[in-house]
Order: sequence, then C-alpha cells, then structure tokens
Amino acid sequence: MRIGIIGAGAVGTGVGILLRRRGYTIAGVASRTLASARRAAARLACPAFEGAVDVARRADVVFITTSDQAIGQVAASVAAQGGFRPGQTVIHMSGSLTSAVLDPARQAGALALSLHPLQSCADADRAVANLPGSVFSLEGDREALPLGKRLVTELGGEYFLISPEAKPLYHAAACVASNYLVSLIDLSRRLMQAAGMEPEMAARALAPLIKGTLDNINEKGIPQALTGPIARGDFGTVRDHLKAMEATVPELGELYRALGRYTAGLAGRKGSIDARKVALFGQILAAKFEAASGRAGVRGKAGQ
Ligand SMILES: NC(=O)c1ccc[n+]([C@@H]2O[C@H](COP(=O)([O-])OP(=O)(O)OC[C@H]3O[C@@H](n4cnc5c(N)ncnc54)[C@H](OP(=O)(O)O)[C@@H]3O)[C@@H](O)[C@H]2O)c1
Repeated sequence: MRIGIIGAGAVGTGVGILLRRRGYTIAGVASRTLASARRAAARLACPAFEGAVDVARRADVVFITTSDQAIGQVAASVAAQGGFRPGQTVIHMSGSLTSAVLDPARQAGALALSLHPLQSCADADRAVANLPGSVFSLEGDREALPLGKRLVTELGGEYFLISPEAKPLYHAAACVASNYLVSLIDLSRRLMQAAGMEPEMAARALAPLIKGTLDNINEKGIPQALTGPIARGDFGTVRDHLKAMEATVPELGELYRALGRYTAGLAGRKGSIDARKVALFGQILAAKFEAASGRAGVRGKAGQ
C-alpha cells in the first residue's frame, strides 16, 4: 500500500515517519513550498513533488495534512486535475472538519476519512514521539473504516468512531484540554511574576505543581483530585486573591472569577462544600460589575 502525503508539516511528516517504520512505502510528498516537501522527503526516503496531484496519482492512501483551511481547496484542485480514482482512500487529520471537505475526492470515486489524533504535535519529532498511545477520532465512508482502524493501530493509537455532527463539540473539548491548558499555565505564570518571581523561575516553579496535579487526576480522578481554598470552603483566601489581583493585575480578574465559579461547582460535586457554600462562592466570584454592586451583602453572609 503506497502512502502519499500532501502537506509536509508536523503531522504529515510525523505520520509518514511512523508508517514508514511500520513497513509502508511512502510514494511521495508535496507541500505548499518545495523546500518543505524536500525536507520531509529526506526523512521519508521518498521523492518530493511540486504538484499535489503528482503525489495523489502515485498513492493508494492520500493524506492531506495541510492547514485546515487548505484541505478543501487542495482536494478540489487535485480532483480537478484527475488525481483521485476509485480504489483510493483520501484522509485528512483535522479535528474540526468532517470528511465532507473531501467530497471532491468522493466525486472522483475515492473513499474519504477524517482521522484526528487527540494530541499536540509541535513539530514532526514531537508527532513521532506523541502520536503512539493517542486516541484518534475516525469518521467517514463505511467501506474505508477498516483501513482507518488499521492505520490507527499501525500508528500505535486507539480509535474512537465519531459522527460528523459531534465533531465541533469533540474539537471544543480537545481545545480546552490542550490550548486552554497552555493559556491557564500562562495566566498562572503572569500572577507569579506579579508576585515578584522571575519568568524563568516561575516556569520552573510551576512545572512540579502541574505535574503533581496531573498525577492526582490520573490517580484519584475528577472531582476527587480537586484541592485548594475553594474545595476547602475558604472564602477569606479567595477574597484576598481578588483584592490583590484588583490592585495589581485587574485585567486577569475576569478569567480568575469565571474559573473560580466553575471550580466551586466542582467542589460541590466532590462534596467538600455544600450547595450553600457553592452559591456563596458564586456571589463572591460573580462577574466584576455584579460583585461590586452586591459586595456588602456577600461579605456579611460569607463571614457566617
Ligand atoms: N499539530 C498538531 O498538534 C495537530 C494535532 C492534531 C491534528 N492536526 C491536524 O493536522 C493537520 C496538519 O497540521 P500541522 O500541525 O501538521 O500543520 P503544519 O505543521 O502547519 O503543516 C501544514 C503543512 O501544510 C502545508 N500547506 C499549507 N497549505 C498548503 C497547500 N495549499 N498545499 C499544500 N501544502 C500546504 C504547509 O506547507 P509549507 O511548509 O510548504 O508552507 C505545511 O508544511 C491539520 O489538519 C491539523 O488540524 C494537527
């Protein structure tokens, strides 16, 4: 089975390297620039082509691993040049798009799949290291699903069959776990720096805390892994946080409050605070404007 890769970035090159290790022949690689195609080709021991259609013609399985916004356009252009045919399977690896974006390939008689790894791949080497052990969502033509499952197994992953309608929610979940986690850690670093810690030290200091928390989640699950002032019902500490942030980094307060309200709900689910305390945290951590107008009332109650 000959594999073609269109889009010589992190995922395309990484998948190519892993499949080659499993004995697949990489028939060729193309990209937006010939330089990228050549760089990937050197690692995949295959020819680099200027035209995507040249790769598609030589391949039984065509991976379109361009940026998401280019997938449809590449599929249409290759189809218009006669690069797709019956017996071929065309695959993209976007988390947000469905296999419908590959309809031009279907119209030429090929089968289409979307195969998305729930993984973050900063470059090809990270993809090679991270993809094995990942869960891949799989969606597309029924006849092509056995091939999709087999490819996931070859990549060392586990598959999850998803409906096209569910992809936006699935992708939102992935963005929260990956992208928003990065944002969350950045938020924490900025607060550390506001407290006087050098950026380099803040990065180093937070790493073991983050790792310990992930270990707790793996071991105890959610919500049992939740610790801290909200889980303990410590209103005074949270009020102190808000006061200090208001004085030094007020622009970070909105996000802190929103996450705090979510965390209060989680503490309620854990059972470490009761419904009344969850509601009180909701008031203390209300959006800034409401909090300011209702401050006196909240203070009185929370001190009970
Ligand atoms: N990276 C991740 O963490 C990750 C995780 C899961 C899924 N994915 C999915 O994997 C796919 C690839 O993502 P990536 O992170 O590997 O992207 P990437 O590193 O930015 O690579 C995209 C490659 O596509 C090429 N390209 C862009 N437009 C093109 C066009 N019109 N024709 C041909 N090649 C084109 C670029 O070529 P040049 O280098 O020549 O400019 C680039 O090498 C996307 O669908 C993405 O959603 C990525």
